[in-house]
Amino acid sequence: MSPGAPGAAQTARLTRSSSQAPRHFLSVLDRSADEWLALINRAGALKHVRPIGGPHPALLSGRTLALIFQKPSLRTRVSFEVAMLQAGGHALYLSPAEIQLGQREGIADAARVLSRYVDAIAARVYLHRDVEALARDATVPVINALSDREHPCQALADLLTLTEHRGSLRGLRLAYVGDGNNVASSLALAATRLGVQVTIASPDGFEVPPEVLEAAHEGAGLGGTVETFRNPRDAVRGADVVYTDAWYSMGQEDEAEVRQPLFRAYQVNQTLLHSADPNVLVMHDLPAHRGQEITDDVMDGPHSIIYDQAENRLHAQKALLVDLLERRASV
Ligand code: CP
Ligand code: NVA
Repeated sequence: MSPGAPGAAQTARLTRSSSQAPRHFLSVLDRSADEWLALINRAGALKHVRPIGGPHPALLSGRTLALIFQKPSLRTRVSFEVAMLQAGGHALYLSPAEIQLGQREGIADAARVLSRYVDAIAARVYLHRDVEALARDATVPVINALSDREHPCQALADLLTLTEHRGSLRGLRLAYVGDGNNVASSLALAATRLGVQVTIASPDGFEVPPEVLEAAHEGAGLGGTVETFRNPRDAVRGADVVYTDAWYSMGQEDEAEVRQPLFRAYQVNQTLLHSADPNVLVMHDLPAHRGQEITDDVMDGPHSIIYDQAENRLHAQKALLVDLLERRASV
């Protein structure tokens, strides 16, 4: 099984990270519904308030963020770096070759040493347990910048984007179509917490893990629900939002050929959108494989809010960083 394969995510039990300071952001479950709403509101405020002399130079003045990446990235890396820069702080990008997380030295030692230099760590890892291991030994906040199990920063940007477009999340009908992966899991966990009615359609064997669905049910609030389907049309019927992601994730490239025929019926195209609400919004976390999970005309069409999502990674993560580092200052 490749490191990013779904089985790795499915065998792990969903747990909140430690409640002791520092406060990490490894999973959607690490924040309550009220805290999610506060982050979304703060991100919206930071997006629109731009003081003279640069966006927010005093917010994170003198603060440093280490970015550990085991996998490639455009949005996550750039948005974290620019967020720190605009807030008066600094980000250090550490490529897979530099840190070699868990290979050159143990993850615990890397966490302890980095904590002596920087104020926060964001890590993109293959195995969720590696970001948990970092958090266990770090004395500064650790942010999950994507693991095989979750992508909570993406969910934060997605819910900010939906709030901007629809005013409120409560009662929205969101259909996720495709692989039940990290993005689907975080989206389902976060959206149900805030009152969204989530439907998910995935091919046999590629469903959102049962423990994630269970956690989404348990954590649902404000009328939020989650329901699964096999047929994408059933999930999309009447939906206000249709969301999709790649049919194979980073680390699963060798499964592309096997997966493509299994996922073909799950393509988000004009025909599928006919089942949705006429004013449907279309979302994708990117990078997209145009012509596979989504067609060009849908991506570039009038219903797409995909580039708003991408922009909002910046505002959402800036809010998260300010929240985490302010907390740390007050401890
Ligand atoms: N959506 C997202 O996380 O994009 P990157 O992989 O480019 O960071
Ligand atoms: N599910 C995708 C998301 C990329 C941002 C992956 O893990 O590769």
